[in-house]
Amino acid sequence: MIFLLKDLSRGKLPINLKGLLKKERFDCEIGFGDGRAIVLEGKMHPERGMVGIEYSPTSVKKAEKRVQNEGLKNVLLIKSEASTAFDILFQERAFERIILRFPDPWPKKRHINNRLLNKEFFTLAANRLKDGGEVNITTDDTGYRDYIIQEVAQIPYLTPIFSGGYRLKNADGVSTRYEEKWRDMGKDIYEIGLRKVSHPKINNQITISTYFRLPAIKRLSCLSDKIIKDGDVILRTGKLNAAAEDKEIWVYFVDWHLFQKTKLIFRKEGNRFFPVYNQDFLPAKSFELLKNFMETCQ
Ligand SMILES: C[S@@+](CC[C@H](N)C(=O)[O-])C[C@H]1O[C@@H](n2cnc3c(N)ncnc32)[C@H](O)[C@@H]1O
Repeated sequence: MIFLLKDLSRGKLPINLKGLLKKERFDCEIGFGDGRAIVLEGKMHPERGMVGIEYSPTSVKKAEKRVQNEGLKNVLLIKSEASTAFDILFQERAFERIILRFPDPWPKKRHINNRLLNKEFFTLAANRLKDGGEVNITTDDTGYRDYIIQEVAQIPYLTPIFSGGYRLKNADGVSTRYEEKWRDMGKDIYEIGLRKVSHPKINNQITISTYFRLPAIKRLSCLSDKIIKDGDVILRTGKLNAAAEDKEIWVYFVDWHLFQKTKLIFRKEGNRFFPVYNQDFLPAKSFELLKNFMETCQ
């Protein structure tokens, strides 16, 4: 079963994992890659629901094939960026375990902000963990390993299970394509285990609007090159491409950690411009900001 975020977001949120997978307890693997580990875990634990999140479409397809070949009914694959999925799809205390096998380490200093595992994400993850639940991380990257331990030390919700924060992982248990690759190169593999010790409250959740339609406007230039902010929500519009046959504007939406961009194309009918926009898009609060702003462009 594969779910796309945009389909899920049109249903009732948070999603009803019990109803979908007919199980009572759930584990979540983030960045499952070709899916070999989530499939193995699904087979080893038929009593559990395994929820996988992965944003690479090629990986999701590979993993889906494995799930189908094994005929597994307890594995749900979601094609999405992980923090967005955690924010909008799952309720508090949804999972017993959150698993990350070789999360992208972004080793260069200028890329550190791209790391998924920081104190903000761990706070969100702790909220989605059952009390006493665990986060299990495997990595070969010592820089990311130490960064993770430092980030966790700054929040009170998770505590390391191993003394010193990590331990060497033996070459047994559930392995993955990346684990095999690094072991073949003679690298050490580290395990970080974190236990939830207190429950964080999460305030700035992304709210998804059910209202999709943008209004027609009279003055296109009103929308060109603008930055509009409301707390954690930011809307930025590019410059109007007036040379395009249909007039075009790029719009960038940021809702807390959800980043999206879409190109609005306007078709003129009478004295008004009607917007056409990409439907593969979550209408979050930033979208409401755009809608409200466009209503002033009359
Ligand atoms: C280094 S690969 C490891 C894949 C697999 N776990 C393995 O061990 O073979 C990292 C995986 O995480 C996925 N990924 C990275 N950041 C992600 C995010 N924020 N949300 C969802 N998937 C992500 C990538 O697409 C990639 O498949």
